[in-house]
Amino acid sequence: MLRLWPRRLDTIPGRRLTGPTFGGWEVLDLTRALAAAAPAGDLGRLWRDHAARGGALHGQYDRFDMIVLTGLIRLFGVQKVLECAPHQGWSTTLMQLVLPGEGEHRSFDRVDYEAAIQDAVRRHTTLKNWSFFVGDFQDLIGGHWDYLSQVDLLFIDADHGQAFAQWYLDEARLLDQVRPGCLIQIHDVYPPGREPARLGESRYAWPWLADKRDRFDVYFTWEMARLKEIQRILGKKVFLDHAGRQANNCSLWLYKR
Ligand SMILES: C[S@@+](CC[C@H](N)C(=O)[O-])C[C@H]1O[C@@H](n2cnc3c(N)ncnc32)[C@H](O)[C@@H]1O
Repeated sequence: MLRLWPRRLDTIPGRRLTGPTFGGWEVLDLTRALAAAAPAGDLGRLWRDHAARGGALHGQYDRFDMIVLTGLIRLFGVQKVLECAPHQGWSTTLMQLVLPGEGEHRSFDRVDYEAAIQDAVRRHTTLKNWSFFVGDFQDLIGGHWDYLSQVDLLFIDADHGQAFAQWYLDEARLLDQVRPGCLIQIHDVYPPGREPARLGESRYAWPWLADKRDRFDVYFTWEMARLKEIQRILGKKVFLDHAGRQANNCSLWLYKR
């Protein structure tokens, strides 16, 4: 059988990290289904609003990543979300746009952005079953351990340093706690060898994942965004940032087997 996952991913640049399947879907079929499931009109309005309010200055959720996040929530029937961290509510808004009324959404940030988050979400949709917890996630998570074991989506976009990655992957072991079938998104993960030196989360995460490749399916938007087949499915515009350059698309999606 073709071995798609080398043991040490960071030593073999160019090797495909995604797929071939994710949550039971072949990844090209999945991408087509995500494009159909995502709320295209709402995402267009959100993207323009994002640009009008400073774009990347207030979050760096690229357009393709918006499709993947909202599409996966709909396609996999996500109801319970744990989000660390929302900052001023860009990712929160995307999730709230497609979460069902009976879902639950808990967000954690060490800065009290509640008013900004509520304002961001309400510009686009109603705020549904959302709670916000202010403080260091490393301290707060102890009070939400049961919830973590029930979530359908664990979203991590917080401190992009190595120490935080080591904490959530190997010390608190958050990904051991989530249930099989749970989606995990780690945002701002760069391909091996491309992470800015001041960060460190990606350099920690890739070897960690290489050791556990049998436990997770992988869909890496950075890589998918650069495939001609995917660009044909979605159209090239989707892969540009507000300045018209190739967007980063740094979302690492895991599906826990
Ligand atoms: C990159 S921003 C999140 C962007 C957001 N997801 C969006 O879509 O705009 C990172 C956020 O993580 C928060 N953060 C960083 N370390 C944290 C920690 N240990 N506990 C809680 N929040 C943290 C920061 O305050 C910041 O708001």
